Amino acid sequence: MSIGNGSDICSTLLAIMEKLYSIKDLHALLDAVLLQARQFTHADAGSIYLIENGVLNFSYTHNDTLFGALGSSKYLYTSRTLPIDHHSLAGYVALTGKPLVIDDAYRIPPEMPFSFNRSFDQVSGYRTKSILAVPLITSTTNTVGVMQIINPLDRAGELSSFTPEDQVILSYFAQNAAAAIDRAKLTREIFLRMIKMCELRDPLETGVHATRVGAYAAEIYHRWSLTHGIDGEEIRRTKDLLRIAAMLHDLGKIAIPDLILKKPSGLDNDEFHLMKYHTIHGARLFKNTASDLDVLSAEIALNHHERWDGQGYPGKIDNIFQDQVQLGEGKRGEEIPLAARIVAVADVYDALVSKRVYKAALSEDQTLGYIKDQSGKHFDPQVVDAFLAIYDVIVAIGKKYREEAAPLNPVTALSPHNPA
Ligand SMILES: [Fe+2]
Ligand SMILES: [Fe+2]
Repeated sequence: MSIGNGSDICSTLLAIMEKLYSIKDLHALLDAVLLQARQFTHADAGSIYLIENGVLNFSYTHNDTLFGALGSSKYLYTSRTLPIDHHSLAGYVALTGKPLVIDDAYRIPPEMPFSFNRSFDQVSGYRTKSILAVPLITSTTNTVGVMQIINPLDRAGELSSFTPEDQVILSYFAQNAAAAIDRAKLTREIFLRMIKMCELRDPLETGVHATRVGAYAAEIYHRWSLTHGIDGEEIRRTKDLLRIAAMLHDLGKIAIPDLILKKPSGLDNDEFHLMKYHTIHGARLFKNTASDLDVLSAEIALNHHERWDGQGYPGKIDNIFQDQVQLGEGKRGEEIPLAARIVAVADVYDALVSKRVYKAALSEDQTLGYIKDQSGKHFDPQVVDAFLAIYDVIVAIGKKYREEAAPLNPVTALSPHNPA
């Protein structure tokens, strides 16, 4: 335990909560909550389950031993749900609303109704020993999930045990964290509804497509930043904004006429010219220059169809808010903001591997061949390198956020003019 007396604890918690409330994206918030909970208890690992549709959904995990302190992992995108019942540890805590301390997960007393699931340990080679599990309950007694903190370490880095003080602090912290999680879920829901509105008009832009593109972009950025000397705090801050901003990349299609958006076959030159303006319409939606999220969302909306070789659109434009904007000469290379170079890869990859009613999915091999071939042409070569380096994470994201259902109104075709 690293914080001292009562008033120290209060001021430390207040400062922590202020920071948590500044985080916008749910994924980034779970990362910060878990990191903080682990720092309180010097724990090596942990995970969070959130309640969705009446079951516990595996939502986030850390493991310094397996992934490293700043590592990302395909395990973040594991699909796993647990019923809220007595059979699992997390289910038991969600059901009873009481914290639980287990000294050895492999020696749970037989009178306990739950057992420890060893499958992750078996696959990964990890050994889970001590577990402190707390319910994430808001002050309005809404249970949003369960947080499990695993394997506390002493100063020498050896396994130790959770103390009664750990349990008190973590339970108090969990209540505050639950309120922040509740709010971030609402924020995500609002963004998904905005995308849904767009989806009613354009079946290409589904909520799961947007969620996948957001996750791919965040993870590609994470990898890119590790090879470009970006510090951990900056990585976390940018990932928070990037995941949301990338989800909103095509919101500007809301301003494109139905006749073009829903045209069953490829667009002619005039129609494609109008379609290109979805980038400008999108950027115009995010005009609060005092908001980091708006600035990044506008950058991505405007530039996600630019190409590394300068052959993309909408090109250089002095003022996107003027009447009768003319498209400019394509931006090239690092003239294109990094976030948009990343979203370009994420968006095209997802469009190609996804099956739609009007087109078959390309195989992973074909798609990878295309992405590699376009390195230095359509795409920034260093972004392609980052994408390839985390390909296992990319595949795990694709599996976790699958299509819910085929689009109802599949009239827009994927054409060379409109690849994503
Ligand atoms: Fe687009
Ligand atoms: Fe897209």
